[in-house]
Amino acid sequence: MNPFVRELTERVSREVGLPPEDLAAHVQLPPDPELGEYSLPCFPLAKALRRPPQQIASELAGRIRPGGYILAAEAAGPYLNFRVDKEALAEYVLIGVYERRERYGGSDEGKGKVVVVDFSSPNIAKPFGIHHLRTTAIGWSLYRLYGVLGYKPIGINHLGDWGTQFGKLIAAFRRWGDEKALDADPIGHLLELYVRFHREAEGQPELEDEAKAWFKRLEEGDREARKLWERFRDLSLREFRKVYELMGISFDHYWGESFYNDRVPEVVRRLKELGLARESERALVVDLSEYDMSPCLILKSDEASLYATRDIAAAIYRWERFKFAKMLYVVGADQQLHFRQVFQVLRLMGYEWADRCVHVPFGLMRFRHGRMSTRKGRIVLLEEVFGRAIELVRGIIEEKNPGLESREEVARKVGVGAVMFANLKGRRIKEAVFDWDEVLKFDGETGPYLQYTHARLCSILRKYGEGPSPEVEFGLLREPEEWAVIRLLERFPETVRLAAYQYEPGVLAGHMIDLATAANKFYNAHRVIGEDRELSRARALLVYAAKTVLSNGLYLLGMEAPKEM
Ligand code: ARG
Repeated sequence: MNPFVRELTERVSREVGLPPEDLAAHVQLPPDPELGEYSLPCFPLAKALRRPPQQIASELAGRIRPGGYILAAEAAGPYLNFRVDKEALAEYVLIGVYERRERYGGSDEGKGKVVVVDFSSPNIAKPFGIHHLRTTAIGWSLYRLYGVLGYKPIGINHLGDWGTQFGKLIAAFRRWGDEKALDADPIGHLLELYVRFHREAEGQPELEDEAKAWFKRLEEGDREARKLWERFRDLSLREFRKVYELMGISFDHYWGESFYNDRVPEVVRRLKELGLARESERALVVDLSEYDMSPCLILKSDEASLYATRDIAAAIYRWERFKFAKMLYVVGADQQLHFRQVFQVLRLMGYEWADRCVHVPFGLMRFRHGRMSTRKGRIVLLEEVFGRAIELVRGIIEEKNPGLESREEVARKVGVGAVMFANLKGRRIKEAVFDWDEVLKFDGETGPYLQYTHARLCSILRKYGEGPSPEVEFGLLREPEEWAVIRLLERFPETVRLAAYQYEPGVLAGHMIDLATAANKFYNAHRVIGEDRELSRARALLVYAAKTVLSNGLYLLGMEAPKEM
């Protein structure tokens, strides 16, 4: 808690007898800075004190005398507004950033606790879809958010590398596979085979049996099946890694569905032993009607395991391995039922830690203009999205800053950043619309806007030349534009926590846009480097702090912060 909020809540607490922490949870910023620096709504006190909030506010205003950081307490209807020592507040915020630098916004509150983040998880032999891009962006941001809060994040890529579709793929490859095509464009060729399999199976049902037989052989460890599968997996993984490399993302483990396969029999045995699994139409299921859900399928009639079975085995394995405080599954909202089923089965198996598992769903990503629907119909190839973003940014930079030396590198960082940001902004559950004209704007709610503002601030500091000094007269920072920046810097740490604990990187994305906007307003309205040396020094520290926090925020959104662009 910051010392100003602590002091004012302690003062109120002494008057009303409620714990300061409870009061602090309600403290807000007044809608208009003219009203003061902090505001305590008195509605939440009304019940405990059995008086109307207006009356509480005016009583407290009469009783709280100036002292310490508090200059005045004034009632405005049901709100109690506080004016505090602004010089001390500016110092507290700016020195806080100055001293903690890239650690500002972080903490060690998660020390000793593991948070597993299951994210990205594309399917082998299929293109990395646009929805995989969203889980990748959101998951990676959550990974970093928990990391700076002191948790030990474990990123797991739960590759879709097991299931009956691999029987189909093997059957199809043995019939129509082409080595050259596979080498040239592995995922493209595998996708073609998969599509062809489905087309031909309509007229030749025996193909399905062939595929089933191949999957069975695969599950039994047959050498030929295994070899082909491994090849498909390796080739796909190589393609996926290219994307991750471009995005600057890494995983602690690539444990795909196949990784847990040898643990499936034990899960099945336990489920039977506990009397949870029963046969239904020759398949093995866990009935969940009591919980208003359709049954969870455990084994098909041919004993093959399912997606849910492997998720159950995976959760148990990860628990044994990490004893996580939380496990987040960053997966589209269309898998809501799947995760409810899996978590419920785990609970029924007696695993109390099932309550630590959270499905973090998100809405679809849609392209505004059909332009990106590529050769493969509706499937958007990810490399093409990034490629195009980078190309367009390159064009913008060539126009804006033709002399820039590291043009290629900057174009890559900004192009990738633009795509990342578009996937993070807003509430994740909402459908996101990807609009080429919007996401690349240097002056909209975009990634490039954040990066551009950061680069501008860096350039001001280069011109200033002296490096930031903490020895400044904080009282010189009096302009409303300066204060708008300071207040946003102040709230950065709590925004980081909020974004992490609500699993909403979008909350942070929004805060960063506000900060960039305030910083732009500030340096457009006031000269940073001017005649008055003391004032320049104070403003340079403010610029330094804004630059640092923008850079910290960009890091948490999985984006790079070029110093020039
Ligand atoms: N491979 C799945 C898909 O593409 C996502 C897997 C998510 N993670 C999990 N543990 N089920 O839809």
